[in-house]
Amino acid sequence: MRDDDLDLAEEQHLRSLTAAEAEGDERAVEAALRPKSLDEVVGQTRVREQLGLVLEAARQRGRAPDHVLLSGPPGLGKTTLAMIIAAEMSAPLRLTSGPAITHAGDLAAILSGMNDGDVLFVDEIHRMSRPAEEMLYMAMEDFRVDVVIGKGPGATAIPLEIPPFTLVGATTRAGLLPGPLRDRFGFTGHLEFYEAHELDRIVHRSAGLLGVELTDEGAAEIASRSRGTPRIANRLLRRVRDFAQVRADGVVTLPVSHAALDLYEVDALGLDRLDRAVIDALCRRFGGGPVGVSTLAVAVGEERETVEEVAEPFLVRMGFLARTPRGRIATAAAWRHLGLPAPSTPGVGQGDAALFED
Ligand SMILES: Nc1ncnc2c1ncn2[C@@H]1O[C@H](COP(=O)(O)OP(=O)(O)OP(=O)(O)O)[C@@H](O)[C@H]1O
Ligand SMILES: [Mg+2]
Repeated sequence: MRDDDLDLAEEQHLRSLTAAEAEGDERAVEAALRPKSLDEVVGQTRVREQLGLVLEAARQRGRAPDHVLLSGPPGLGKTTLAMIIAAEMSAPLRLTSGPAITHAGDLAAILSGMNDGDVLFVDEIHRMSRPAEEMLYMAMEDFRVDVVIGKGPGATAIPLEIPPFTLVGATTRAGLLPGPLRDRFGFTGHLEFYEAHELDRIVHRSAGLLGVELTDEGAAEIASRSRGTPRIANRLLRRVRDFAQVRADGVVTLPVSHAALDLYEVDALGLDRLDRAVIDALCRRFGGGPVGVSTLAVAVGEERETVEEVAEPFLVRMGFLARTPRGRIATAAAWRHLGLPAPSTPGVGQGDAALFED
């Protein structure tokens, strides 16, 4: 590989380090780290208790549990919980996703193959096609679908009975789900970002499973830079382990965590290079805003979507950036994080950039 290629590979690697989405071969590693039962799940106390009750009651009645909707940002454990629901019910799990169901017929094929008590997991359920969605309403409520045979005036609908099953839907965008679909779930679990002490336990647990030796301080350092997200915690742990193995004696200590995360440009609050570039441009180049998101994206050399979907949610949650009708503005905390004095009236006098868009 030439040096350029290496740089490119490295760059892509850096960018994905604090992205909450899973990619490529990461899925295989994740499977190994997933908790297998409700008791093993760290954090999410409320959802765990609520879900535990739903499942226990269904078990006592000897029935399939009500349909369950799991909503929340990427990497917080929706897929994990779906698998646990099936495991706790000792039921087979069938997996599909909204984008995979492009026609109602795709869904009919899946549903007609279901057995009594099966759990059907539909990931990204908000991305299902409209006709499939309507078929799903009926299946969820009446355990029946109408399969349309033929086209035009000669088409006939053949009703098809489906054995009672449990639908588990996952979505990162509960707001995009149409009301009728949302209403047909008997239980909705909202997953929250994790507290540092919960991530700490997750890092310890994962280290145990991966056979990584680590100290409490080393684990705490990884946990505190993980953006409240187990997937990121697990990913940072693997990168710090690499560092420990190659540059130290294999043990993840505080200095090792520190040096490794600095090397990967993940700062003390979990901000990565893109996050910092965004607030840096906002403060230094646009005087704190307001500035339109497209202008901001050009300034940091990124796609608008990347800035909007990858960097902004975290910056907003950290209280570094605010979205206003006139554009993005930096908060006093953002100026402080960059070590710059905040202007007394943030955003004033810099409004021109906002006039171009939004
Ligand atoms: N409560 C938890 N305790 C321990 N590990 C967890 C927990 N929640 C998630 N994880 C870990 O985080 C990783 C990501 O979780 P999962 O795939 O379930 O997220 P997700 O919400 O389905 O994300 P996406 O929206 O991208 O599909 C898993 O590998 C799992 O090991
Ligand atoms: Mg998932």
